Parts: sequence; structure tokens; C-alpha cells
Amino acid sequence: MEKIEKRRVVLGITGSVAAYKSIDLARLLVARGYEVRVVLSDSAQKFITSALIEATVGRGVVTDFWSPAEDSEGIEHIDVADWADVIVISPATADVIAKINLGMADTPLLAICLASRAPILIAPAMNVNMLEHPATQKHIKELEEKGVSFVDPAEGVLACGWTGAGRLADSKEIFYHIRRKLSVPDLKDKHILITTGPTRESIDPVRFISNRSSGKMGVELAREAFCRGAKVTLVHGPCTVDVPYPIECVPVITAEDMHQKLMERVFEGDNKPDCVIMAAAVADFKPKQESSQKLKKIDGTVPKSIDLLENVDILASLGAKRGKSLSPILVGFAVETGDLDELLAELRRKLETKKTDIMVGNFASEAFELDTNRVWIVDRNGKTGEVTTTFKSRIANKVLDSIIKL
Ligand SMILES: Cc1cc2nc3c(=O)[nH]c(=O)nc-3n(C[C@H](O)[C@H](O)[C@H](O)COP(=O)(O)O)c2cc1C
Repeated sequence: MEKIEKRRVVLGITGSVAAYKSIDLARLLVARGYEVRVVLSDSAQKFITSALIEATVGRGVVTDFWSPAEDSEGIEHIDVADWADVIVISPATADVIAKINLGMADTPLLAICLASRAPILIAPAMNVNMLEHPATQKHIKELEEKGVSFVDPAEGVLACGWTGAGRLADSKEIFYHIRRKLSVPDLKDKHILITTGPTRESIDPVRFISNRSSGKMGVELAREAFCRGAKVTLVHGPCTVDVPYPIECVPVITAEDMHQKLMERVFEGDNKPDCVIMAAAVADFKPKQESSQKLKKIDGTVPKSIDLLENVDILASLGAKRGKSLSPILVGFAVETGDLDELLAELRRKLETKKTDIMVGNFASEAFELDTNRVWIVDRNGKTGEVTTTFKSRIANKVLDSIIKL
């Protein structure tokens, strides 16, 4: 059964130069079907107008205790506090962070925070010295201890001219943190390591062998697992899609590089994953020798051939190394170009030979570079399921469901 995410977001916007960026976040939420009610502080209204927000979210904006935004039978700030599934403050000033921590309630936003039982997510934006000031740090720490979550500000050149931490986090990053707050956290406390993208095997300093993998499938797996509460590590080759922000990313280039990073992270240290999902399209072959000089035409003649070597089989080596322990759970992806019988036979063969728990199969023509896919999921108990063509985010959730069921 599809898990229902809660969908009611109260978005508080306070008086930072980054206030205009909250329009992007509001738009993103509305486009994804979330209900949004916005509360503007007095200072925020110096940076953006209620009219702009109303046009974006399609409903009145809360600005004043004494002039309700919408007809309501009750007291507006209590209605809004009760309505919220999550309260997000983005951007959050140093001032509002301090006042929430002190339990003040002299503005609609502060009163809503105090009256609501919904979780609070804060995305600060301010001058680096304001952020690093012991007073601000103390308020952040104390709020975290009270269960309030923060989206860390980014580092960079700030509007005030200083360089350092204090830039409002990217809207998409805040969006995925909101989804994580609203989702059923059925992967909470689980560490999932996902690989994605192609690998590159160098021929010479200019050229390489690679494949059409964009990295989308693994990125969606990483995002959805994050939203379902998991701690996620994404080991990725050179992807053509953006890798997601709220997730620890480990970039690699070659199959050997990926193999080495995985062996270290999967079997060593105290941060071992509970599950590994190999969605990367690892190059099966690599040039026998990498030329240190660019290969050139000599008197109009091109090199006749490039000798290839079999590459390391990462999935099989993970399966072999975990042995009988069956830990971590091991999920592999396989891409084929033949017919369905061949694909299913290949999935069952790989379950056995690579000693995986789940194999996910798809066809090259339906998988590479697209936002959608169609997959078959085969598990070690002999269960086979088809997920008909749908967005990769939905496929990702089906794969995660089958891991949980196992
Ligand atoms: C031009 C300008 C830019 C400001 N930018 C920020 C900011 O980015 N972060 C911040 O914490 N305060 C900033 N402030 C200060 C806040 O607006 C001020 O503390 C205000 O009282 C915050 O009220 P509020 O938290 O109710 O919105 C700025 C002030 C001005 C005049």
C-alpha cells in the first residue's frame, strides 16, 4: 500500500535579504501538491509582498494578529498552528531563532510556533558573524535539544559582503528536508549506501570508455530513502544529473575506484551500511593499458584496436565478501537488451552467482537517461514483481518497499 505523506505546510518567512528565495520554495511545494499557508513577519514584508505570496500559493497570507488573512471561525494563529503538519521557517533570521527558543509569542509566527504540536524545521540565513555568535549558536543548540530541526546554511559570498556560512540553503534541499519531516519514517536509523551513474575507464588523457547512465535512478533512490528517514551515502560516478544535497556524496571515476571506496565503507569502520543498492552502471571492460599520451593518427592511419580487460565485478565481490552473514542486504540492478524471458533468467542467475538478496532488472531502451522506467524485482525467496512504467521516484519507493519486506 502506498504510504500517505502528510501535506500541510506552514511556511514562515522572516526579515532576511534571502526572503525572495522563499517564493521558489513555495512554488516547489505547491507544484508537488502540498497545501501551503504562509506567515510573513513585519520585516519580511519589507523584502517581499503579501500579494506575490498570495499569487504563488493561492490563499491569504497571515501577517497580523488583528486582521485575519482568511475568514475563520476561530482564532487565526491557533487555527494555523493546529492545521500544520509541519512548520518551516525559511529564511529564518537570528532574531526569530532567538525568540522561538525563548518561547516568545508577540507576532503571529511566534505564536503559531508556540501553539503548534507540529514539527518545526528552520533554515537560517544571516551574516556569518551573526550565525557564529555564541548567542545564536546557543539558541540553535537548545532548539535542537527541544526537537527542532535545522537545514544548515551554505557557505559562500554573503549579501552583506562577508564570506562564510550563512547563505540560505538551496530550495530543493529545504524541500527534501520538509518531505523527510512529513513522510512515514520506515527507514529511520537505517544506513543505506547507494551507487549510481556510469564509471569511466581511460583510454588516453583525452578519451574514455563509459556508458549512457545518467545517474537518475540512484539519485531518486537516495532522495526517497532520505525522505523515509534513512541515513544515505551516495557513491556516484560522473552523473549528468545533479547529485542531491542533503546526502553524503562520494564521487568516483573508475570501477576500481568505486570498488575500493565500497570495500572500505561497507566492511570497515563503525559506519557500515545496513543495505547496499548497486544502481551504478559499472563498466564491464576497461582498456588493457592507458596511454599516457593522446593517441593520434599517424600519417592518416588511426589505431586499429584497443585491447580490453574484464573489469572488477563489484556486486559479486560484495556478495562474496559478506559471505553467510547476509549483512548488509545486497540489491543489484541489471540492464538487458533482449526479451523478458532473458531478463528474468539473468536476474535469477545473478541472484545466485553474485549472492545478492534482490535483483532489479530493466531494459536499456526504457532506463537510460529517462525520468521514467519499468522494472522487475526478483528476491532471494523467489518472489518476482513488475513495476509498470512510472517515474523513477516511484520505482525507487517500490525497490525500498521490497527491501523492507525482505
Ligand atoms: C537590509 C537588511 C537585511 C537583513 N538581513 C538579515 C538576514 O539575512 N538575517 C538576519 O538574521 N537578519 C537580517 N536583518 C535583520 C532583521 O531584519 C531584523 O533582525 C528583524 O528584526 C528581524 O525580524 P523578524 O525575525 O521578525 O523578521 C536584515 C535587516 C536589514 C535592514
